[in-house]
Amino acid sequence: MKVLVTFFSQSGNTKKIAKAIYEQASESEEAELKKLEDVSPGDTAGYDFIFIGSPLHSGSLAAPVKECLNQIQSGPGQKMAGFITHFAPAYPEQDMDRFAEPIKTVCREKEIEYLGCFDCQGFLTESLHEMVQKKMNLTDEQWADMVKQMTGRPNEEDEGNARAFAKKILA
Ligand SMILES: Cc1cc2nc3c(=O)[nH]c(=O)nc-3n(C[C@H](O)[C@H](O)[C@H](O)COP(=O)(O)O)c2cc1C
Repeated sequence: MKVLVTFFSQSGNTKKIAKAIYEQASESEEAELKKLEDVSPGDTAGYDFIFIGSPLHSGSLAAPVKECLNQIQSGPGQKMAGFITHFAPAYPEQDMDRFAEPIKTVCREKEIEYLGCFDCQGFLTESLHEMVQKKMNLTDEQWADMVKQMTGRPNEEDEGNARAFAKKILA
């Protein structure tokens, strides 16, 4: 099976998860790891399985990911799964479902089998801390707690979970 793992990543968190998924996929399949910028939508029809990854941007997939999804060309019997990183500790399942909606929609429209979406925390780039703390109206103490929780993420456990997710859906 030909597998494409593609991702958009500004500070490296989603890339880390992409690598873990790619390493897992490579154990049993012919896999390729590509930045979203290096994928032209026409190429995608040639893959049996596409993993597409995005950071969460303002409660939504990053704009380039949504754009790519809109243009994606499917092939017969194709399958797709998503992966998302976000700084917030944990989103309720309904929210994660909503965030993955653009992936599900493209799967419905283009007759691609949707196999789920992995998510985990990823450290928020330092330059945005002050702005986000203010926006969320958090005290210094509450924000310090938030920073503590996201520091070092994605960590080895997250990478292991991403590998397990890939292994399960590729089986
Ligand atoms: C513009 C922008 C908006 C963001 N919006 C959210 C958000 O709504 N919820 C959230 O949990 N994280 C949000 N984040 C944090 C990122 O999703 C998180 O740090 C992610 O792991 C970054 O991935 P990357 O390193 O692959 O770019 C935002 C980050 C940026 C830069």
